[in-house]
Amino acid sequence: MRVAFGLVFVFGCLNSASAADPSYTKDVKPFLTKYCIECHSAKQAKAGYNFDDFAGLTKAGKKGAAVVPEKPEKSMLVLTMTGGAKAMPPKKAPAKPTKEEIDMVRDWITKGAKDDTKK
Ligand code: HEC
Repeated sequence: MRVAFGLVFVFGCLNSASAADPSYTKDVKPFLTKYCIECHSAKQAKAGYNFDDFAGLTKAGKKGAAVVPEKPEKSMLVLTMTGGAKAMPPKKAPAKPTKEEIDMVRDWITKGAKDDTKK
């Protein structure tokens, strides 16, 4: 009984931690790998956007930086998914981000777009 209660407690904490503070390595990078990296990497950086690592996100592509810390309204990464720029991922791409995923990315940027990559 005590063990079960402990597990519920631990899971509760993990959940609330990720909901409160999205992480670049745990949330944003997997998101980019799933939806964007296929066309935006060092191998082929469409429109000048390379999302291989954190540095590529804050570097300007054809239309400005993908990520402007604290300013989701200026971040191409958000604008392409919310109607403020050419729609990304493109219509023909098989996977589409969910509203929760887009909110997570926006939240991460609003909170300063911190890089928590281990160096
Ligand atoms: C199937 C390939 C593909 C995928 C997947 C893809 N992109 Fe693109 N992206 C392109 C191409 C091609 C362009 C060049 C724009 C054009 O002229 O259509 C582009 C352009 C862009 C631009 C510039 C937009 C503009 O208004 O000029 C941004 C920003 C961008 N992509 C971000 C993303 C993000 C963020 C994702 C993931 C959510 C993503 N892309 C997924 C192919 C892709």
